[in-house]
Amino acid sequence: MIDPATIERIIEAANIVDVVSEFVTLKRRGVNHLGHCPFHNEKTPSFTVSQAKGIFKCFGCGKGGNAVNFIMELEQLSYPDALRWLAKKYHIEIAEKEESPEEKLLKDERESMMIVSSFAQKYFSRQLLEENEGRTVGLSYLRERGIRDDIIRKFELGYCPEGKDHFTREAQKQGYRMEFLEKTGLTIKRDDWVRDRFAGRVMFPIHNVAGRVIAFGGRIMTNDKNTAKYLNSPESDIYHKSKVLYGIFQAKRDIAKYDKCYLVEGYTDVLSFHQSGIENVVASSGTSLTVEQIRLIRRFTSNITIVYDGDDAGIKASLRGIDMVLEEGINVKVLPLPRGEDPDSFARSMSASELAAYIRGNETDFIKFKTQLLLEGIGNDPVLKARLINEIVRSISVIPDTITRTVYIKECSRILDVGEEILYAEIRRIKQRTSEEDVKREMQQVRLKTPATATLGKPVSSNPFELEEREILRILLKYFHVVIFQVEGDLPGELIPVTVGMMVLQELDGDGLRSSDPLVNQMIDIFEENLDDRSFDPVKYFINHTDPAISAFATDLLAEKYVESKRWRKSGAFIEDEGEILDTLVPRLIQEYKLKNLKAMLKDLEQKIHELTQRNEFEPIFDLQNQYINLKKVEKFLSEKLGNRIIN
Ligand code: CTP
Ligand code: MN
Repeated sequence: MIDPATIERIIEAANIVDVVSEFVTLKRRGVNHLGHCPFHNEKTPSFTVSQAKGIFKCFGCGKGGNAVNFIMELEQLSYPDALRWLAKKYHIEIAEKEESPEEKLLKDERESMMIVSSFAQKYFSRQLLEENEGRTVGLSYLRERGIRDDIIRKFELGYCPEGKDHFTREAQKQGYRMEFLEKTGLTIKRDDWVRDRFAGRVMFPIHNVAGRVIAFGGRIMTNDKNTAKYLNSPESDIYHKSKVLYGIFQAKRDIAKYDKCYLVEGYTDVLSFHQSGIENVVASSGTSLTVEQIRLIRRFTSNITIVYDGDDAGIKASLRGIDMVLEEGINVKVLPLPRGEDPDSFARSMSASELAAYIRGNETDFIKFKTQLLLEGIGNDPVLKARLINEIVRSISVIPDTITRTVYIKECSRILDVGEEILYAEIRRIKQRTSEEDVKREMQQVRLKTPATATLGKPVSSNPFELEEREILRILLKYFHVVIFQVEGDLPGELIPVTVGMMVLQELDGDGLRSSDPLVNQMIDIFEENLDDRSFDPVKYFINHTDPAISAFATDLLAEKYVESKRWRKSGAFIEDEGEILDTLVPRLIQEYKLKNLKAMLKDLEQKIHELTQRNEFEPIFDLQNQYINLKKVEKFLSEKLGNRIIN
């Protein structure tokens, strides 16, 4: 439990640009910031952050909210955990009461898995740095490999003691439950025995983007060919291998800063690059590169340089990586290494400045890389040359951006000495073929789908007044205290100002209009309570509301500028600034809302009258008919007032 005062302090302290920037590279665009949405896959940025309002909004996928909503969504955390995350970032002390065993049990499972992983990391580090066995076996192994102490600390390396279950026993002694030890794979459990998965290994914790430990890689310290060199945590609810990049947490700031990311294969490659002063580096660690991993990088940069091992496997992986990266709309280069070297051995064989110089001199764009590679041994064989051209053009054809494609075509034409028209013709041929293949694949998938899962379209809202109610709330949020006109008071010459808030609430109240959406009513009630409070700032209040449903809803409303302009253009007027015509806009909006409600009531009455007539119950009909006639009069009045320009 976090007390309300602390919640307020956290929300107050959370700077949206600051928070989002930990995960997404933002660029200034006028008063806002813009970046690639982390919640959906997009090639052009439509993710907007407003420093002034304290909110984010993606116009591509529709997600929006304040800093707390952002963390909840991105890190998949509960509301209190998102607050804890922010509190940690802003060094705000949270005095939480001791958890009872029941509460501990209730804690979200993923969170429990992360907590036990964090405990494990600390335990392994302590073993490595402070315990006898860890120091003599683990630490000396790392030092022998030339890994510096600052790097060991930065990557929180550790050591798991030899033996059956030293770690598991300690964890249990400290109250960590077997369920989560098992689910994270730290402990292997069979019916009648348990043992530590990583016993006798040097530990590389794997962090997520936010810096929390979600898995481990453990290396043996011998060259025993019969034992796997690295052992990794199994897939789990918190660790999806294909979506994780080793080192992303330690690299993200520099990736954004230098607008570039080096991609290597292994744990030690990342470490050695850091040691040589290159910190914008991540590893796909053993799995072959996935689209999700590339998209993770794309949150921070659109420039990747592949630095794979200088052996056949590494070259093959590079070629595959090139096409995948290009397909995601990212620029790709390759840094070839001498045969037999991997980034780790290569970086350690020279000084930091020598490495930097090597990179400057040898970083190759992918066309040159492919050409050089494939030209070896081709000579003047026209068939082989045609195959080479096809191979390179294939890579170019997957680039989504036309301009980039054009640039590469030019370069390719120059290097291979082939006319650009020929290359374009080749691209067309390849594209045609792939699109035919795509269609075939799609068709197959459709056939496989059951009718139920193949249904498309957005869920339909159950609230028929949603549009109007949103618009009313939006106007209240933005113009609550704005005076729209004045009315005469009781005293001679006295003028009483009427604000947007007063007018709207009085009108709604007078007709007893309530929404079918509790969230709308909740907001209206809050407006009501603060009607006379001049210091009440609705935007600030709702955006920072402690109920995440409300803050997300308010954000959504404030982002609705498109609806707004469409609405007023449709009503015959094109207005630049709605703030200047509130005196006509607000009454209109209310009348429209009332009219729509009225129509619904009329329809309802018609239905009832019809039913009663069918059952020959004439007694109550008269009453309903009177109601009907009265409502019809009101409808006529409102329609005339609105000049029949009603938007349905
Ligand atoms: N890997 C793995 N399991 C293995 C071998 C490798 O998960 N049995 C992963 C590790 O993430 C490793 C990466 O693949 O870092 C690259 O493998 P490799 O080049 O063989 O290891 P190095 O990173 O060079 O490790 P070291 O320098 O410790 O030998
Ligand atoms: Mn290697």
